[in-house]
Amino acid sequence: MIRIYLWFLYCIAPIKGDFLSVLPGFKKFKDCIEPSEDTCPNKNITFHLYTRNTTDYELTEDQDNLLNAPFILNASIKLLIHGYTGDQNYSPNTELRPAYLKYQNLNVISVDYKSLVRPPCYVQGVHNVPLVGKCTASILSTLFNVRKDIKKEQLHVIGFSLGAQVASHVGRLMNSTLKRITGLDPASPLFNPGFVGNDVLDKSDALFVDVLHTNAGMKGKYLPLGHVDFYANNGALQPGCGKNTSCCHVRAVEYFTESIESQTKFLALKCFSYSLFKITSLCNVSKTSPLVEMGEHVNENDRGIYFFMTKSKPPYALGTDIYGTNSTE
Ligand SMILES: *[C@@H]1O[C@H](CO)[C@@H](O)[C@H](O)[C@H]1NC(C)=O
Ligand SMILES: *[C@@H]1O[C@H](CO)[C@@H](O)[C@H](O)[C@H]1NC(C)=O
Ligand SMILES: *[C@@H]1O[C@H](CO)[C@@H](O)[C@H](O)[C@H]1NC(C)=O
Ligand SMILES: *[C@@H]1O[C@H](CO)[C@@H](O)[C@H](O)[C@H]1NC(C)=O
Ligand SMILES: *[C@@H]1O[C@H](CO)[C@@H](O)[C@H](O)[C@H]1NC(C)=O
Ligand SMILES: *[C@@H]1O[C@H](CO)[C@@H](O)[C@H](O)[C@H]1NC(C)=O
Repeated sequence: MIRIYLWFLYCIAPIKGDFLSVLPGFKKFKDCIEPSEDTCPNKNITFHLYTRNTTDYELTEDQDNLLNAPFILNASIKLLIHGYTGDQNYSPNTELRPAYLKYQNLNVISVDYKSLVRPPCYVQGVHNVPLVGKCTASILSTLFNVRKDIKKEQLHVIGFSLGAQVASHVGRLMNSTLKRITGLDPASPLFNPGFVGNDVLDKSDALFVDVLHTNAGMKGKYLPLGHVDFYANNGALQPGCGKNTSCCHVRAVEYFTESIESQTKFLALKCFSYSLFKITSLCNVSKTSPLVEMGEHVNENDRGIYFFMTKSKPPYALGTDIYGTNSTE
C-alpha cells in the first residue's frame, strides 16, 4: 500500500502546488515557500564563509564582497549543503565545520536555504532544489571569475540528504568540472530516475563522486550513484539506532566527520551485496581487492561498491577488524 502511494507520489511530484493537497500528509501547507522568481542571487539562499580566522563572513555576488572575502589562499574550500529542515547551523554543518577547521586552516562555506525547506514542506523543498543548485553554481562561478587567486580545483562540495541532490545540480551547472562531490546519504523520497522529474546525484556530476549510504531505501537512496559507493553496516540500519531512521540517516555525517582525523580508519571491502560481504569467504581481501578507505581521505581512483561495519557508538571506525569480530560490543 505504502509502495503504491509512494509510486503515485513519484509520478505527480513534478506537478507543482495544490495538486498535492489531495494527498494525506502531503498537502501544500500554507507557509511553504516556493520563490515565485527563480532568479539568482536569491535572498532566501545565503552563503557563509568560515575559516580559523573568520566566523561567518556572508558571501554575496557583489564584486567587492568577493574581493574582500577573507579566504585562506591555497587551501581547500569545503562547501557544505544541508538538507530538509536544515540551516547553516544544522547537520552536516554542526559536525563537519568544526572538524574541518580543527584539522586544517581551510575554508568552509555553509549554504543556508532554511526558509525553502522548513518542515512540513518536504514536497516544496524538493521543488526548490534546482533553484538552490542554480544560485550556488552562480555564486561559485562569480567567485572563480572575480578571484584569480582561488581555483576551482580547491573546491569539494559535500551535501547531506536533500543537500546531496542540490550538489548534483551544482555539479551539472558547473559543467561537471568540479573535482569532487560527496553525497552523504542522498535523499530518496521523490528522487527517482525513470520517473518524471527530479534529477538524482550521479557520477556524471563531477570528476569524482563518492557516496555514503546509511539509511538506504528509506530516507536515503538505495542504488549506487557515484564512482564509488560505501554502504555502512547493511546500508540501511545502523547499530545503536534501533529503527530510528533519522538516527541512521545522520550517521552518514557522523562517520564522514570521524574520518577526517581518525587514526582508526573506516576500511571497506568491495562486494556485490551485503549478504555476500557477510559471508566472509565470498568477498575476500586480496591483492586485487584490497581494503579501501571511506571518507574524507578516499582514494579518488576507487571504483565500485564497498561495504564496511562500524561500532554502535563513537568512535565508530573498526580499522582492519572489518567485521567487528574483535569489538567488545
Ligand atoms: C524569502 O522568504 C520569505 C519568507 O521567509 C518570503 O516571504 C520571500 O518571498 C522569499 N523571497 C524570495 C526572493 O524567495
Ligand atoms: C590567522 O590567524 C593567525 C593567528 O590568529 C595568524 O597567525 C594568521 O596570520 C592569520 N591568517 C590570516 C590569513 O589572516
Ligand atoms: C599560493 O600558491 C601560489 C602558487 O603556488 C604562490 O605563488 C602563493 O605565494 C601561495 N600563497 C600563499 C598564501 O601561500
Ligand atoms: C558551462 O558551459 C556553458 C556552455 O558551454 C557555458 O556557457 C557556461 O559558462 C559554462 N559554465 C561554467 C561554470 O563553466
Ligand atoms: C531519533 O534519532 C534522532 C537523531 O539521532 C534523535 O534526535 C531523536 O530523538 C530520535 N528519536 C527517537 C524517537 O528516539
Ligand atoms: C576467499 O577465500 C576463501 C578461503 O581462503 C576461498 O575458499 C574462497 O574461494 C575465496 N573466494 C573468492 C571469491 O576468491
